[in-house]
Amino acid sequence: MKALVLNRPHEPLRFTDQPAPKPGRGEVLVALKAAALNRRDYWVTEGLYPDIRCPVILGSDGAGVVTAVGRGVGSHWLGQAVIINPGYYWGDDPSAQSGDFRILGMPDNGTFAELISVPLRQIHRKPELFTWEQAGALPLAALTAFRALMRQGRLESGQTALITGIGGGVATYALQFAVAGGARALVTSSSPAKLDRAAAMGACGGLLYTEPDWADRLLSGYGPVDVVVDGAGGEGYARLIDVARPGGRIVNYGATAGAPGSLDLRKVFWKQLHLVGSTMGSPADFADMLQAVSHRGIQPVIDSVLPLARGNDAIERMKTCGQFGKLVLRIAD
Ligand SMILES: NC(=O)c1ccc[n+]([C@@H]2O[C@H](COP(=O)([O-])OP(=O)(O)OC[C@H]3O[C@@H](n4cnc5c(N)ncnc54)[C@H](OP(=O)(O)O)[C@@H]3O)[C@@H](O)[C@H]2O)c1
Repeated sequence: MKALVLNRPHEPLRFTDQPAPKPGRGEVLVALKAAALNRRDYWVTEGLYPDIRCPVILGSDGAGVVTAVGRGVGSHWLGQAVIINPGYYWGDDPSAQSGDFRILGMPDNGTFAELISVPLRQIHRKPELFTWEQAGALPLAALTAFRALMRQGRLESGQTALITGIGGGVATYALQFAVAGGARALVTSSSPAKLDRAAAMGACGGLLYTEPDWADRLLSGYGPVDVVVDGAGGEGYARLIDVARPGGRIVNYGATAGAPGSLDLRKVFWKQLHLVGSTMGSPADFADMLQAVSHRGIQPVIDSVLPLARGNDAIERMKTCGQFGKLVLRIAD
């Protein structure tokens, strides 16, 4: 089979022939139609992810058709259109993943390939109305957004949410979950064009985080927010503490911009803020996310679709944050 292989960080992915996997006991073989990038794939190529093991096929997101089943798996799965939950071994605690938790696509071979073997428990039926590209763009980012906003953020209808860096894959889902849930959504971006696109998706206000007074403008224009969902961290994190209302929640799921410069803890305790972390989601979160997507008409926002062989171009676009939404790789028609 063809696959995109990372032989070593800082090298381009190689589009090469690889041995086809065989489904083991309790596994299914999926002929992938589409995969999608997550920033994790970029971090690994840059050597900026813990415990990198190479060579490896990257990719956490994928959708395709079951073409073979391992022992113990019913043959009715053959021919089924499925998506893959990339979070393995979450464990029993809904509040946090177990120590065994791992994410598909390093250290285990991932979805940037024509075929993948996955445990049956990791697959779900593809949302019927989605194209292959939309289905492939759903799993990791939509799960992360759903848990961050709804579980950890506890966003309620009528409240105000701030979603930072709206060009990001996770952020475009968070915006949709917030709007569909009856909340007022504000967003930040480095790009006026991306703020316009977010407004067209229902955001009621947008600010350029590249402008030093963005937080003051937010407060004077819209007032303090109930829930912040942030995947950037960095120097801007301190301003999130300023824009959160007393008793509000700041949910962080990523650190694209690095560590926060300095935090004024006096503001945190005086405002009775909840600083919350969030990572992907449990199997129950995944099932609830899928239900919310179908009931609330959530549509993956796809920035662009490239053939699998051009995966390096997609990684390059992610590196420069050029995208609005998900970068998809088409694997088969
Ligand atoms: N914990 C988890 O389970 C989990 C899951 C998924 C992702 N993550 C992490 O979350 C982050 C986002 O992931 P993703 O896949 O959505 O990434 P992505 O699609 O590559 O999006 C990155 C976005 O970050 C925004 N950004 C960059 N610098 C920023 C800054 N200083 N302030 C605010 N926003 C900034 C940009 O938004 P604009 O283009 O609008 O400027 C950019 O489009 C990554 O760090 C990723 O590793 C964690």
